[in-house]
Amino acid sequence: MIALGCDHGGYELKQEVIEYLKKKGLEYKDFGCFGTEAVDYPDYAKPVAHAVADGECDKGILICGTGIGISITANKIRGVRAALCSDCFSAEATRLHNDANILAMGARVLGPGLAIKIVDTFLNTPFSGDERHARRIRKIEED
Ligand code: RB5
Repeated sequence: MIALGCDHGGYELKQEVIEYLKKKGLEYKDFGCFGTEAVDYPDYAKPVAHAVADGECDKGILICGTGIGISITANKIRGVRAALCSDCFSAEATRLHNDANILAMGARVLGPGLAIKIVDTFLNTPFSGDERHARRIRKIEED
């Protein structure tokens, strides 16, 4: 199950992501927002981050205008590793190396074609499982 969230800046791109998920037969839970009226991105990033951190959803996709506010917010939640990606190399690397569990994107940064390729890369790349990467991920949670 993939958790989806956006603010008004990300609403239209989220609809494109939903079309992609439907085409691929992937299940999702949409945490809003549900239109282009101005809203506050933390109100949507937090429920998605908690759904992923609590194990209700396997991964999340968050979209705002830049992807920055929504990723900053998500990364405040323990257990979340949200990666702001604007290219496929980063989307692949953050799965392989960081086992990122949330993809953040900026709808005002990316065109829909590239955004969907980034989503596809993120969802289809497994964590490498390499010990050095697992060790570094464990250290993220240490104080
Ligand atoms: C909303 O105008 C915009 O600030 C928001 O979508 C996001 O870019 C914040 O980081």
